[in-house]
Amino acid sequence: MVKKVLFVCLGNICRSPTAEAVFRGKVRALDLQHCIAQDSCGTSRYHVGEPPDNRAMAAARKRGYDMSDLRGRQVSPEDFKQFDYILAMDRSNLSDLRRLAPEPHAHKIELFLKYSSSDEREVPDPYYGGGEGFDHVLDLVEDACEGLLQRLQGDL
Ligand code: 4NP
Repeated sequence: MVKKVLFVCLGNICRSPTAEAVFRGKVRALDLQHCIAQDSCGTSRYHVGEPPDNRAMAAARKRGYDMSDLRGRQVSPEDFKQFDYILAMDRSNLSDLRRLAPEPHAHKIELFLKYSSSDEREVPDPYYGGGEGFDHVLDLVEDACEGLLQRLQGDL
């Protein structure tokens, strides 16, 4: 069975598409695409259909991740059924998801940084800050993706 991971933030143009692109790169590097799939979405509909933020794409490109094919979408009721892991970037996303989730699927929702080796538990929203915020997002995301992959490889 393919394990499916959904990364969720507010706008789906900064943090969660960054996590999707980084995770996708690591899954491909391990040649695990046949058993691990990933996607991302936002709790809001502010940026539906839009490409990721240019600052997020530039920061990711510097580390070898191309996210130019990704487009914003809003979380849907079907997502709670389809995905095995639903990973929130911050506590606000977490509480929005818990409010929306049908009870049988609520256990799938977690903070993404639960899988991180850092003490931080939220990926800070970089949207209104400077470029360094996007590098910090990538540091946190790369680290948590490693932990998540270890967990998933244990599941396979
Ligand atoms: P994201 O960042 O949730 O990481 O995609 C944001 C993008 C857009 C907005 C807020 C956060 N916004 O308010 O438009």
